[in-house]
Amino acid sequence: MMPPAGREIHCMNVDIPAPAMVGEVIRHCADALERAGLFYGHGTDNAIDDAAALVLHAAGLAADTPDVDVRQFPDASRQRLARYLQRRIDAREPVPYITGEAWFCGLPFRVDRRVLIPRSPFAELIRNRFEPWRPPGPMARILEIGTGSGCIAIAAALAFPDSQVVATDISWPALQLALENRARHGLEDRVHLVQADLLAGIAGRFDLILSNPPYVPEAELAGLPAEYGHEPALALVSGADGLASVRRILQDAPALLAPNGLLALEVGAGWRALETAFPRLPFLWPEFEHGGEGIALLSAADLPA
Ligand SMILES: C[S@@+](CC[C@H](N)C(=O)[O-])C[C@H]1O[C@@H](n2cnc3c(N)ncnc32)[C@H](O)[C@@H]1O
Repeated sequence: MMPPAGREIHCMNVDIPAPAMVGEVIRHCADALERAGLFYGHGTDNAIDDAAALVLHAAGLAADTPDVDVRQFPDASRQRLARYLQRRIDAREPVPYITGEAWFCGLPFRVDRRVLIPRSPFAELIRNRFEPWRPPGPMARILEIGTGSGCIAIAAALAFPDSQVVATDISWPALQLALENRARHGLEDRVHLVQADLLAGIAGRFDLILSNPPYVPEAELAGLPAEYGHEPALALVSGADGLASVRRILQDAPALLAPNGLLALEVGAGWRALETAFPRLPFLWPEFEHGGEGIALLSAADLPA
C-alpha cells in the first residue's frame, strides 16, 4: 500500500524519492505541501499533520501505527497517495474531503462536500460541558441550529448523556450525512434531525441552544483561501455583513429558551460587528485554550423577552 523502496511518488508538483519508513514518507510529503504554500485550518494547522493524514489513509494504516517499513506493502497505494497529493496541492482540497473523515471533540465524523468541515471552538466548550457557564439543573433539552455533519449535536449528546438533542439544518444533503454520523455514534434515540430554516417551526423550550451558523460577509467569500471554495457556500455566507442568520436567531431564540437556558452563538471574527450591531446585549466571550474565537454566550435573562 505504500511505495516500495526504489519507486517514486509522482504528482504534478511532487517528486518524492521512495524512502523505506512511513515516517520518512510523511516528512517528504510535508515538505512538498510546505513548498506549495497551502492554507491550513480545516481540521489541521500544519503540513506535517496534513501529510500524516494523507499517507496513513492512502496506506490504510491507523494513526497510532508505529513507524513501519513501507517495502512490505503492495504498490497500489503509491498511485493513491499521488492522487491524494494532487488533490491537496493542485486542487487545494482540504484533507478531510480527501480522506472522508474529520475529528471533532475526539470523535470521528464522516465528511464530504455536502457539509462544512468540523473545526469549531465549540469542541472546547462541549468537552468542558459548558462549565462554568452551564445553567443550573439538568441539561434535558438541547437545540443545535445548522448542524451540518452533526458534529456539535452528537458531541453535545455524548457530553450530556441524559439529554435529548434536536439538530436542524436547511440543507437536505447535509442532513443525509448527519444521519450517517448519528448512526455511527448510535444516537438515533437521542439526536433528532429536522429540516428547518433556522428556528422556523421549532417548538418547545431548551436548556441549551447552540449554533455555528454561516457568518462570512458575502463580499469576503471570494477573497478566502481556495480551500474554502470546496465547502458549501450555504454553510459559510450570511448576508452583506455576515450577521443575517445571527440576527434571526437572536430574534427568535428567546421564545425557545428555558427560563435558566443558555444561548451559545458562534460568529468567529464577526464578534466586533456583533457587539456593534447589538450594543445593549451583554455578550460573554469565552477564551479558548486550543484556538478559535468568537462564541457569544447569553443567558435567557440577558435576552429581551
Ligand atoms: C458553519 S456551518 C456549521 C456546521 C456544523 N454545525 C459545524 O459546526 O461544523 C452552518 C450550517 O448552517 C446551515 N444553514 C445555513 N443556512 C441555514 C438556515 N437558514 N437554516 C438552517 N440551517 C442553515 C448550513 O447548511 C450549514 O450546515
